[in-house]
Amino acid sequence: TRVVVLFGGRNTEHEVSCRSAASAVQHLDRTRYEVVPVRITTTGHWVVGAALGEPDGTQPAVDDVALRAMTPEPAVLPTMAETLARALDAMRDADVVLPILHGPYGEDGTVQSVLELAGVPYMGSGVLASATSMDKDFTKRILASRGIPVAPGAVLLTPDDELSPEDLERIGLPAFVKPSRGGSSVGVTRVDDWAQLPAALATARESDTKVLVEAGVPGREIDLGVLELPDGRVVTSPPLEIKVGEEHGWFDYEAKYEAGITDFVVPADLDPRIAEQLSSVALEVFRELGCSGLLRVDFFLPEVDGEVVPTVNEVNTIPGLTAMSQFPRMWRAAGTDYPELLDILIETART
Ligand code: DAL
Ligand code: MG
Repeated sequence: TRVVVLFGGRNTEHEVSCRSAASAVQHLDRTRYEVVPVRITTTGHWVVGAALGEPDGTQPAVDDVALRAMTPEPAVLPTMAETLARALDAMRDADVVLPILHGPYGEDGTVQSVLELAGVPYMGSGVLASATSMDKDFTKRILASRGIPVAPGAVLLTPDDELSPEDLERIGLPAFVKPSRGGSSVGVTRVDDWAQLPAALATARESDTKVLVEAGVPGREIDLGVLELPDGRVVTSPPLEIKVGEEHGWFDYEAKYEAGITDFVVPADLDPRIAEQLSSVALEVFRELGCSGLLRVDFFLPEVDGEVVPTVNEVNTIPGLTAMSQFPRMWRAAGTDYPELLDILIETART
């Protein structure tokens, strides 16, 4: 089976994608899969690497540095279109493409559209679900329309948009300022004083024109994985709790990817009733957004009048797959180790 691992991407999560892809390549059973790495560089050029041979014991482990070395940035830059045409040619005889891409121009439907047009089976959500889920504003509108609790907030569509005093009052502090279409907390600032707002908006606008200002939701932070099986059933993983070190504050980029800052507890110690509720909301989110293959749903559990109200923070159609990341951890806790998880993702993509 020929598997193309598509990674990198023209966005701020390029590095994370390289790490996710390296982890996946490391765990793909290479006695069964011929793996071809294809990188989209930060400049948007597609680079096809040589097929990775069968591991023979002497072969060095494939990490993100090795993967990049196999798919170097072209010295003379052809147009993006030329490199895309070449990559499509290389993907012609792929049995499946794993778009292990995070963020815009990867996780947002653009790449999925190309694969769709080329008729190549690929892992994960299609064009519309990817595009909707990449945009935190659209995601929240859809979920809220189904009565699923989301964080209160306001959307600034252009740099001229401003928050009204009523918005500030309603949102309250602390607040989180986020690019609407981003990931890994790149460009996100926690605001504890409204005087910090202009700088936070400027930071978010470095990666997106559309910016969200959201109320910080108190309470435990819990993720769930959703997986579509080859027979069409959709199942959820055990819940995972994210416990960020007290002195660090919140689950920012460092806390996500540097060892020792965050504890991941899986299965999370939750009242079975709440765990059941999280599972059913996660399945509903997957269905409402029209997802396929896989999804990670991130919740906060605030208490309102003594009742826990699972609130969706955001979703990820291509969740982080690095050695640190939550998605493989959650499935391991369910008894599905990383190689088997990849088998399922590949099989589902092909059916
Ligand atoms: N966007 C990152 C990769 C995540 O959600 O895990
Ligand atoms: Mg995300």
